[in-house]
Amino acid sequence: MLKGKRILLVISGGIAAYKALELIRRLRERGASVRCAMTKSAEQFVTALSVSSLSGEKVSTDLFSLTDEAEMGHIELSRDADLIVVAPATANILARMAQGLADDMATTLLLATDKPVLAAPAMNVRMWYHPATQRNVEQLKKDGVAFIGPNDGEMACGEYGPGRMAEPLEIVAAIEAQFGKPLPKHLTLVEPAGKRAVEALQIAQDLKGKRAIVTSGPTYEAIDPVRYIANRSSGKQGHAIAAALAARGAEVTLVTGPVNLPDPPGVKTVHVEAARDMFSACFLDLPVDIAVFAAAVADWRVAVEASQKIKKTGDLPPVLKLAENPDILRAISTTDKKRRPALVVGFAAETETVVAHAQKKLASKGCDWILANDVSEGTGTFGGDSNTVHLVTQGSVENWPRLSKPEVAARLAERIAQHFSGPKSKPVLVKKGS
Ligand code: PMT
Repeated sequence: MLKGKRILLVISGGIAAYKALELIRRLRERGASVRCAMTKSAEQFVTALSVSSLSGEKVSTDLFSLTDEAEMGHIELSRDADLIVVAPATANILARMAQGLADDMATTLLLATDKPVLAAPAMNVRMWYHPATQRNVEQLKKDGVAFIGPNDGEMACGEYGPGRMAEPLEIVAAIEAQFGKPLPKHLTLVEPAGKRAVEALQIAQDLKGKRAIVTSGPTYEAIDPVRYIANRSSGKQGHAIAAALAARGAEVTLVTGPVNLPDPPGVKTVHVEAARDMFSACFLDLPVDIAVFAAAVADWRVAVEASQKIKKTGDLPPVLKLAENPDILRAISTTDKKRRPALVVGFAAETETVVAHAQKKLASKGCDWILANDVSEGTGTFGGDSNTVHLVTQGSVENWPRLSKPEVAARLAERIAQHFSGPKSKPVLVKKGS
């Protein structure tokens, strides 16, 4: 679809500029030619040399370069393209585009063009939500600019929410969509991330008054003072769920094993190491309305933890005798009525016959729903940024498409809110100004 298409990629100065390099690769793989223009601040994040090496074209940076103008003037450059893509589109460049400024090469190209423009915003969540940015986005939409993203997630600054640039392959999909159908006079937002970006401006507070526990991350089971048994869980999925429930107004306690993630804002976070600590922390927080168990809890620990570092003896390696850890999900699902949460959601991490195993787990653990995910080699579910899940309930299975982990979390939070508000629930996301 992109074979022979000419893309002019405008790279503005944000931390996501590094993803523009992958975007160039992906576009060229698909047969598109990519010319690039960079703002001065973009050059603080990636060099014109890397951009030029990957695109195989000279990079335009300087509005007043006589050589550039002699080779191809900026008007010609902006008109020669089939599509202009601004990625990352910072708050600053969106503001300048909305104002019609032409104070550097990038904005001059954007003002001089008569070609469609697609922007992939990337900025801090508060900058994205700022009325000035939203005003500029609205103006640009009226001017016919299409948007992809921003996505929800953790940001380089440690905050969480919409502001992450769409992934390179999502941008490629948005570009392909531009070529797949005739472009309307006023381009609409590109689905799905673009629509979400506008809708997510105001998230319904439909879990206000509800209390939730979410577990996340791995557990570490000590062998001796320096060694432990663990797994590859990063906590990304569990943390995203805690944040998504809090975003809808729930009072959330996140009980997490050791992870390299910041605590989600607005969530009470309890840090634990071993399964038994996670078990106690969860029970301490009861009663709650909702419990979601996304942690990859070690099923076993060593029966007797050595008090000193186990030494090599030169004989046979030591044999570790294992003992079973308490099953937190099962214990909370089957606890007395007074303390059992109204809705208990477990996960099932499987490497084969995922749904069938999850259905068995639903019955054996006594929970209400299971989110089943394939964690076999090559899926990248453990530690990765996306996940393909199946929502297994008594008598039904919903297969969700591959989504980013924050999108899985948002969808789960939406389903939970619907569960509590009944079948005639209002739409979860309230559109603003549209
Ligand atoms: O952390 P990420 O890198 O983002 O990866 C996400 C994930 C793959 C860890 C997550 O999506 C996931 O699948 N979590 C559950 C992992 C797991 O331990 O699955 P399981 O099938 O072994 O356990 C079934 C359920 O019982 C889970 O809800 C688990 O939290 C719970 N359990 C298991 C053992 C135990 N002792 N106590 C428990 O509560």
